[in-house]
Amino acid sequence: MSKATVVMGVTGSIAAYKACDIISALKKQGVEVHVILTASGARFITPLALETVSGNAVVTDLFSRETPWEVEHIALAKRADVFLIAPATANVLAKAAAGMADDMLTSTLLATLAPVLVAPAMNTNMYLHPATQGNIGLLQARGVRFIAPGSGPLACGDEGVGRLADVPDIVAAVLQALAQKRDLCGKRILVSAGPTQERIDPVRYLTNRSSGKMGYAIAGAAAARGAAVTLISGATNLSPPTGVERVDVLSSADMFAAVDVRFDGCDALIMAAAPADFTPRQTAEHKIKKNGEGLQLELCATQDILAHMGARKGKQVLVGFAAETQDIAANAQGKLKNKNLDFIAANDVSGKDAGFAVDTNAVTLYSAGGGAPQQSGSMTKQALADWLLDRVFAERS
Ligand code: CTP
Repeated sequence: MSKATVVMGVTGSIAAYKACDIISALKKQGVEVHVILTASGARFITPLALETVSGNAVVTDLFSRETPWEVEHIALAKRADVFLIAPATANVLAKAAAGMADDMLTSTLLATLAPVLVAPAMNTNMYLHPATQGNIGLLQARGVRFIAPGSGPLACGDEGVGRLADVPDIVAAVLQALAQKRDLCGKRILVSAGPTQERIDPVRYLTNRSSGKMGYAIAGAAAARGAAVTLISGATNLSPPTGVERVDVLSSADMFAAVDVRFDGCDALIMAAAPADFTPRQTAEHKIKKNGEGLQLELCATQDILAHMGARKGKQVLVGFAAETQDIAANAQGKLKNKNLDFIAANDVSGKDAGFAVDTNAVTLYSAGGGAPQQSGSMTKQALADWLLDRVFAERS
């Protein structure tokens, strides 16, 4: 078996000197490391030092004529099992967030499909600046994992957050990413996420509080584990995770149609969306004018997407979510049976750390196969996504 390979970007921060420690710790774990050093990184550490520790040629410039690498950034991008940037400056985060490719590091980063880990290092104010925080948020939403910087005295004399994470923490994160399961290769998974919008007139609609975070986390986790994922998404402000095909929909009827045409070709449907149960019987062609009195809206039922797919399913695994505020167990088990599901993840959306818009969630998973319900406990939606996928696909692999 060939060695696990890390492609490591080193950028222009004083913490660049720690790159040698990271490389040598990874090499001790049997990991092959190829370094890409940016022009400003090379002002802090020499290519020779990195070459000596890594045992591989260091790539310094996309247009360099000294190495064969200038035509090989795609090969390097493909060779990476994990792509690490340590230390990462505010500048490289901004370029990565914007999708720029104006040097060897950013070009290779844009071409890689490997999991990307980033360990930022910079002055506190630069780190906390809304622009940098916005870039971090954008990259996280695309599936980039951050190894958070530590706090303490910084090289610039300031005190605060921004110090490169400790070397053992960076190495542990890389080893964990290398050990990432690829157990869903070959599976086609449909995931739905977010709310729907039911039009009343050209300027008004009915919607709900779903943020889409849980469905996006599941889509991202399944893609990272090798599945071909299509995310049917209601209107959210989230970016699609890396490697996921996103189909945008607005109404519950649109979501039904988008799921319906793809259902036969999928191995699993995970409905984390909150499609509306009711829609205005009629959509007014023009804006409804107020007349000093109230307005009676007549609503009719939408189609239950899961129940419909449950009624016609073949080999597909069907997973639902039950958003409940009372009688959680009975309601969830009722939905499991009535919609002919394989699993239902029930959550109490009245809790503070579960349900809509928050970053954590806690579910109880009921299986049609019987057995005791399983409690996840409170965890991040990312961790919960993997927890669910482990259980949904365990019985079938
Ligand atoms: N669901 C669906 N189509 C709908 C409504 C819901 O496929 N029109 C799915 C949801 O995506 C979720 C599951 O059904 O996976 C349960 O949704 P939930 O809102 O908890 O329950 P409902 O079936 O809508 O029932 P109720 O609102 O009465 O609790």
